[in-house]
Amino acid sequence: MATRWRNSVTWRWVVNICRFILGATFVFSGFVKAVDPLGTSYKIQDYLTAFGLSELVPDMVPIALSVALAVLEFGVGVHLMLGIKRRATTRLALLIMIVMTPLTLYLALTNPISDCGCFGDALVLTNWQTFGKNVVLLICAIVVFITPWNMVRFLTKKMEWTLSNYSVVFAFALAVYCLATLPIIDFRPYRIGNNIREGMVIPEGAKPTVFDTRFVMEKDGVKQTFTIDNYPDSTWTFISAETVVVEKGYEPPIHDFVMEEMETGDDITDDVLDDPGYTFLLVMHRTEEANEGNIDLINELYEYSKEHEYKFYALSSSSAEAIELWRDRTGAEYPFCIMDDITLKTIVRSNPGLVLIREGMILNKWCDSQIPDEFKLTAPLEELTLGQTKEVNDLKTLGWVCVWFLVPLALIVLIDRIFNKKNNNKNNNKLIKRSMRKKIVAGNWKMNMNLQEGVALAKELNEALAADKPNCDVVICTPFIHLATVAQFLNQDVIGLGAENCADKVKGAYTGEVSAEMVKSTGAQYVILGHSERREYYKETPEILKEKVLLALANGLKVIFCIGESLAEREANQQNEVVKAELEGSVFNLSAAEFANIIIAYEPIWAIGTGKTATAEQAEEIHAYIRGCVAEKYGAEVADNTSILYGGSCKASNAPELFAKPDIDGGLIGGASLKCTDFKGIIDAWKK
Ligand code: 13P
Repeated sequence: MATRWRNSVTWRWVVNICRFILGATFVFSGFVKAVDPLGTSYKIQDYLTAFGLSELVPDMVPIALSVALAVLEFGVGVHLMLGIKRRATTRLALLIMIVMTPLTLYLALTNPISDCGCFGDALVLTNWQTFGKNVVLLICAIVVFITPWNMVRFLTKKMEWTLSNYSVVFAFALAVYCLATLPIIDFRPYRIGNNIREGMVIPEGAKPTVFDTRFVMEKDGVKQTFTIDNYPDSTWTFISAETVVVEKGYEPPIHDFVMEEMETGDDITDDVLDDPGYTFLLVMHRTEEANEGNIDLINELYEYSKEHEYKFYALSSSSAEAIELWRDRTGAEYPFCIMDDITLKTIVRSNPGLVLIREGMILNKWCDSQIPDEFKLTAPLEELTLGQTKEVNDLKTLGWVCVWFLVPLALIVLIDRIFNKKNNNKNNNKLIKRSMRKKIVAGNWKMNMNLQEGVALAKELNEALAADKPNCDVVICTPFIHLATVAQFLNQDVIGLGAENCADKVKGAYTGEVSAEMVKSTGAQYVILGHSERREYYKETPEILKEKVLLALANGLKVIFCIGESLAEREANQQNEVVKAELEGSVFNLSAAEFANIIIAYEPIWAIGTGKTATAEQAEEIHAYIRGCVAEKYGAEVADNTSILYGGSCKASNAPELFAKPDIDGGLIGGASLKCTDFKGIIDAWKK
């Protein structure tokens, strides 16, 4: 019942809708963080301060965390959107949501920071909105986690790895680029083309926020807080001041742009914003932390400003002592104004950063490594393009980001395709690796021939292969009645002999059964177990097969263990889960040494005796997956040494294409093993 429900078309739709909601949100959230890593690091810093951890954490941590978060979110988003590594990705997405949802609930309840910062400055949400969003995402994450295989894949398995790595490298490169320069898209009110004055306007009728300033004063070792109304006499010493919100009203996008001249304490905001000429603002939120690498350029720029009578102010929130130190170290002669630290960090994401304004309009911004030099400042600003408002088009930028994402990706895909073609060449590395494991063509006669017919076929094959030696291992698996007779004359150096089944009991009163020991005593070396026909018609469960495998191995038989999905399972895209479960159910309990005697035969049930073969690509994809499962369980070396055969309407005509695939090590042949020429034709595929 549950299986039917999970395979229904409606559920598949639900899963895919959820994966896109989740994926798109992660991509967006990772992208906006990668665009403004410094902004996210400030937010992380705010969190650390709110939780009293800022002192304990080294300075580099917030920025490293910010880049890591951007890469993680963008990567998981791309993986979800394209259906890459579905199981691992959905687990990771669920884990992220399991951590984030209660955390945001806590933030909503305690409100240590007013906006969570999950979408940077691109989309500011309140803490409760964020919690609501996370509840929706958590539900989506649970849905995709339940049946990840219902997520439609948009790439081949091979491409998955390429894209997986590329999405991570891309997000990392984007974050590093934006960190080294400026955010490529500016979501803040101080973006180029905005007017600071206009950003400060409170619409008519809007309720203004009421602020109050609190002063911390000290007298005789006692600290006390005062307001302007009860400001104490001069016997008290001023310690610090903070502005608090008494009543929150409408807050314009720019509400804290106040320039106070350092020396005089005069508020010159209006003078600067109304000035019809150019003004350079050198923004250094903290001079102690500002990069000194380009001080010569800055000093030259100041000279240039003086020469052309442009205004030039450095803005900082540092103390007078720290600013004096900066002047001493850098020879700075430009005037300083004091401004709020957060405002400065918001104006430009660089320390130092440069802003050019005229009548309050932001014309241009530069990070410190891109401050214009004498080669650019060849004339008065009025005559230069950099004196005009820089053209900013976010859509165009976004288009370029997509091009940067897609063009290298297309190149990688192309290289991957070419490389994979080469891989199909028999001389390639993977095949050299494959030569470590056995190439096998095994026949499964099933219940088709009487003793005489079987013996005749075995003799014919014996002669044919004596005359023309195969370059792979050949095995014939016959009904029990043929074994002892065929073993007498079969050249077992060339053709191995195996049974089609054995009992799950050691010995005793089990009428009609044939034990593994009995099979071995005929001279046979192999046994087929887990064939879909036995699973289906004789109700052999994973537990029964587990017993059979153990007994076969205990009696020195090599096991050809069959796995494969039904048509319904293939249509529900569940083949990987099915084969993995079959391996886990009956052979993954073995030790690595025991597992060395297992040959896996992947036989899609829908292809057995139907004339429908899996395409070579389909077969290769799942063979590679099976090898991956073995590698996960026993390590790469065991996986490299495990032969994985394909079975299901395999014929001389399609065998060469199938066997050319790097993870297909031969075939388990039903119908075409009943005629010597047909079978030999398949064996000869290894010679092509
Ligand atoms: P066919 O080759 O007849 O499709 O059978 C495959 C098979 O079941 C081998 O075990």
